Amino acid sequence: MKVLFATCAALPAGDGDDDALVDALADVGVHASWTAWGTPVEADLVVLRSTWDYPERLPEFLAWCDSEPTLVNPASVVRWNVDKTYLVGLADAGVPVVPTAVAKPGFTDWPDGEFVVKPTVGAGSRGALRVTAGDHETAAAHLATLDVPALVQPYQANVDAVGETAMVFLGGQYSHAFTKGAMLTADAEFDESGLYVVERLSGAAPSAAQRRVAEDVMDAAAALTGLRRNDFLYARVDLVPGADGSPLLLELELVEPSLGFRQTDATAPLRFASAVRAALSRR
Ligand SMILES: Nc1ncnc2c1ncn2[C@@H]1O[C@H](COP(=O)(O)OP(=O)(O)O)[C@@H](O)[C@H]1O
Ligand SMILES: [Mg+2]
Repeated sequence: MKVLFATCAALPAGDGDDDALVDALADVGVHASWTAWGTPVEADLVVLRSTWDYPERLPEFLAWCDSEPTLVNPASVVRWNVDKTYLVGLADAGVPVVPTAVAKPGFTDWPDGEFVVKPTVGAGSRGALRVTAGDHETAAAHLATLDVPALVQPYQANVDAVGETAMVFLGGQYSHAFTKGAMLTADAEFDESGLYVVERLSGAAPSAAQRRVAEDVMDAAAALTGLRRNDFLYARVDLVPGADGSPLLLELELVEPSLGFRQTDATAPLRFASAVRAALSRR
């Protein structure tokens, strides 16, 4: 059985986080190798990984996803998840989400305190701007540089102290978690490819409240996409503490999340390999 990991041309073998997956898959009889997305490929499974240059080439990316019948997560999921306005749908489904406004030209309903203006389609923190309370001029100027609509959210200041908690699900089941330090800070730096802000990561043990919200997010995402949870080969639920400390969803990553394999123990790649085998057996 042959699996291809899809990446971007700037990172021909991924960013290193997935290195252990190739051996873990080989152990269970699956040959995995890397390919840059864009041209048609053939494999029993094409797994999206570090395709981080797609926001600039979105129509091309979506067309390529549509043309790959063995893509995971599937193209329909990609289409739903590349646009962060899915957050509004999840909030409507009852999931606790960071308050999210969809800003069109002429938007004036800025939050009261510090806030964030960021693209609906984005990755690697690119295009996200943290704005000082009341600085509507800077916010409007940034909004004008983004494709509209864009997203406006109150800045969740607890992130500065505790970061965000990324909870990884493999084959629909919880696997592990890691913490990502605040990204919109003065000392943030891009990696040499320019595709993502360098992240400060460490392992994490989520609280019961975080685990419950993450499970609810997974259920709601399955309902909204008309799939079963195990149709998601991988998912990452990013939670931040709200003003009162309770977990809020910042992002549900079903396209190209880093899965933090270097921040957790060696059994996570084995679970990934098993989830791949399960996905292959359902075909
Ligand atoms: N409302 C917010 N409050 C606090 N931090 C935020 C907020 N929105 C974004 N950030 C910071 O910016 C980073 C990137 O934003 P995110 O929505 O995760 O987009 P992406 O990771 O797809 O670029 C987050 O990891 C977080 O550190
Ligand atoms: Mg993010």
